[in-house]
Amino acid sequence: RSLARTAASAKSHLSRRCYSVESAPERKVAVLGAAGGIGQPLALLMKLNPLVSNLALYDIAGTPGVAADVSHVNTRSEVTGYVGEDQLGKALEGSDVVIIPAGVPRKPGMTRDDLFNINAGIVKSLCTAIAKYCPNALVNMISNPVNSTVPIAAEVFKKAGTYNEKKLFGVTTLDVVRAKTFFAGKAKVPVSEVDLPVVGGHAGITILPLFSQATPKANALLSESDIQALTKRTQDGGTEVVEAKAGKGSATLSMAYAGALFADACLKGLNGVPDVVECSFVQSSITELPFFASKVRLGKQGVEEVLGLGPLSDYEKQGLENLKPELKASIEKGIKFANEN
Ligand code: NAD
Ligand code: LMR
Repeated sequence: RSLARTAASAKSHLSRRCYSVESAPERKVAVLGAAGGIGQPLALLMKLNPLVSNLALYDIAGTPGVAADVSHVNTRSEVTGYVGEDQLGKALEGSDVVIIPAGVPRKPGMTRDDLFNINAGIVKSLCTAIAKYCPNALVNMISNPVNSTVPIAAEVFKKAGTYNEKKLFGVTTLDVVRAKTFFAGKAKVPVSEVDLPVVGGHAGITILPLFSQATPKANALLSESDIQALTKRTQDGGTEVVEAKAGKGSATLSMAYAGALFADACLKGLNGVPDVVECSFVQSSITELPFFASKVRLGKQGVEEVLGLGPLSDYEKQGLENLKPELKASIEKGIKFANEN
């Protein structure tokens, strides 16, 4: 009897912890590159998201296994694995959000731009399929170099006649996640109380954390040299992981977490939740560059408003000027590739 009672109590405990989803609308999310280092934990995290009703996992190999595995988790969404180009259309059809972590990661000594030659082609072909099968989906681009892959996607969609600047996002959430962790650690405050924007792009000096706008106030807790060291650490956060993994790839688990946070924000926006604001690399007119990461308000159509930079410290003003030439060149490289290939 006591065993039965224990089992019943465990069951009710588990069901309390399961998500209640009665009021959430149907939403399909597709993950392209779902069998990879990011793709697998991201698939799990999206399976745990109560806003998802249908989860499509696509890769060139391995997705039936990942999908079978993830599908046994006790949450709302139906999970389907799709493998190979023949099945890409089915994976995409009806998607509200498409998350793209497909492509090769860095090894020590490489820059993100060194991935361009392989990943540009992968992103181009996946975006061609998105334009055909789910032109209205919000696209969350994770594949590097983000500073170039987002412009490639935009050009592909323009050529297909489906481009909507409100629906294309470079995922820079990991830069915010890192800046928050590093700041919390240095200032000895709980990370849950920390927030700050990270603007610019997603590579080296193009990553510009705005510690002057942090909550709690950074300049009350840290010296200027601490802030400069935190800025550098945020800019080099990806390299820190690449070097620690010593040839086995780049950030996967923290990226899956960041990707899941950003996709959740997109779904909340689509569902009409007010005041959903995240940093993202989007088409922008807040600087002279055509794409730029900044705070973005998300809504039912995707981008509702690209928010301005706000007041910058002198150090951040200098960082902004320093990043522009590199970011401009990466954007132009993506545009050129999409139009020449
Ligand atoms: P990985 O090699 O572990 O996985 C990539 C997956 O993509 C593999 O399963 C592979 O089969 C798949 N793939 C390759 N070509 C494909 C295609 N044409 N269609 C569908 N799937 C395809 O790599 P990873 O560690 O998961 O990283 C993936 C990408 O994400 C890399 O480019 C990496 O640089 C980038 N990344 C970006 C951020 C960011 O903050 N935006 C963070 C970490 C990694
Ligand atoms: C990251 O920031 O972790 C990613 O862009 C992967 C990388 O190459 O550093």
